[in-house]
Amino acid sequence: MGSTPRTIRIAMNGITGRMGYRQHLLRSILPIRDAGGFTLADGSRVQVEPILIGRNEAKVRELAELHGVAEWSTDLDAVINDPTVDVVFDASMTSLRAATLKKAMQAGKHIFTEKPTAETLDEAIELARIGTESGVTAGVVHDKLYLPGLVKLRRLVDEGFFGRILSIRGEFGYWVFEGDVQSAQRPSWNYRKEDGGGMTTDMFCHWNYVLEGIIGKVKSVNAKTATHIPARWDEQDQEYVATADDASYGIFELETPAGDEVVGQINSSWAVRVYRDELVEFQIDGTLGSAVAGLNKCVAQQRAHTPKPVWNPDLPVTESFRDQWQEVPANAELDNGFKLQWEEFLRDIVAGREHRFGLLSAARGVQLAELGLQSNDERRTIDIPEITL
Ligand SMILES: NC(=O)c1ccc[n+]([C@@H]2O[C@H](COP(=O)([O-])OP(=O)(O)OC[C@H]3O[C@@H](n4cnc5c(N)ncnc54)[C@H](O)[C@@H]3O)[C@@H](O)[C@H]2O)c1
Repeated sequence: MGSTPRTIRIAMNGITGRMGYRQHLLRSILPIRDAGGFTLADGSRVQVEPILIGRNEAKVRELAELHGVAEWSTDLDAVINDPTVDVVFDASMTSLRAATLKKAMQAGKHIFTEKPTAETLDEAIELARIGTESGVTAGVVHDKLYLPGLVKLRRLVDEGFFGRILSIRGEFGYWVFEGDVQSAQRPSWNYRKEDGGGMTTDMFCHWNYVLEGIIGKVKSVNAKTATHIPARWDEQDQEYVATADDASYGIFELETPAGDEVVGQINSSWAVRVYRDELVEFQIDGTLGSAVAGLNKCVAQQRAHTPKPVWNPDLPVTESFRDQWQEVPANAELDNGFKLQWEEFLRDIVAGREHRFGLLSAARGVQLAELGLQSNDERRTIDIPEITL
């Protein structure tokens, strides 16, 4: 008790980007630092010390000055090989990720990374293998599982609320502007296949851990992808051909730990307008009850409270179906999901243990995206083989 705080030095690559800056630096590491670190079970404190890394010297220096970060660099390799650095974090472009993570783990650094870990399954498996061999603690962003809405949904599963779970359906997406009149609200590389973009690549790695984390194993995939908007305008107002899919409609066969079969279905689209309460929503239907969860909110309906609608197209709807659901309380303080996972990961490092969401889970995410695209190309359902290292 009362000992000098231990400091974890975290090299942060890609912090000029959307995710790196907003979620990881601004919402996670800086608040942890500004709170004086976090407290371990024995009462001692652990502090964090970010080192900002980027290609553009002026931008990185400006961010460092703005947020009172003493160290920054444009030389990623030098920082990776700096013996005083404990963790290498990566939120840079997807296509650069595998090489950075590999170098970092081979230099003995713990890693924390955005998804996907790699562009191909082979690379993702190789990373998982290197992670196991090097013995470092590896964490991959599984942010959706830390969202209040999904935490509540998972709690309902654990409480047996649903009875036998029959199906889960997800609806994700919103309109991403083309960029000609109104600027696009996502980076242009997301819409170019050659730059690692595409809805299936981007989101199926999330859906894999969401489905695994809430229901169970994903046994098969059948996906139909589309490029609904064929041309977009980039950050320089130049028109470009959208070579990647901007929507992906997937059906998944799932298996619960008890061996029950569950049907999963998730629509993901950047060419859809939102008539929902949140940008992503999941509905689980079970024999004893159903629930709908978004990022924050979760509502549920028990069997005993289930109305009995009768199909009659000749009459207007007389009941308000949405009002027949009850809100599920949080019953706990639920902080930013990225920050919660960072803290858990940092605690794992101090304890010298594995993080529960590591490179193998991430590889299964890459696998689901790869097989989803293959399923679309071959117009068939594909069984998902177990990955062995
Ligand atoms: N967890 C999530 O919910 C979530 C959401 C969106 C994106 N992501 C992932 O986060 C990562 C970053 O996505 P983003 O939306 O922040 O993208 P972004 O384009 O805003 O940021 C990318 C970062 O990479 C850097 N970069 C770009 N080209 C580079 C190059 N040639 N060399 C070196 N650095 C380069 C940029 O300067 C920037 O710092 C992606 O891998 C993406 O899949 C995760």
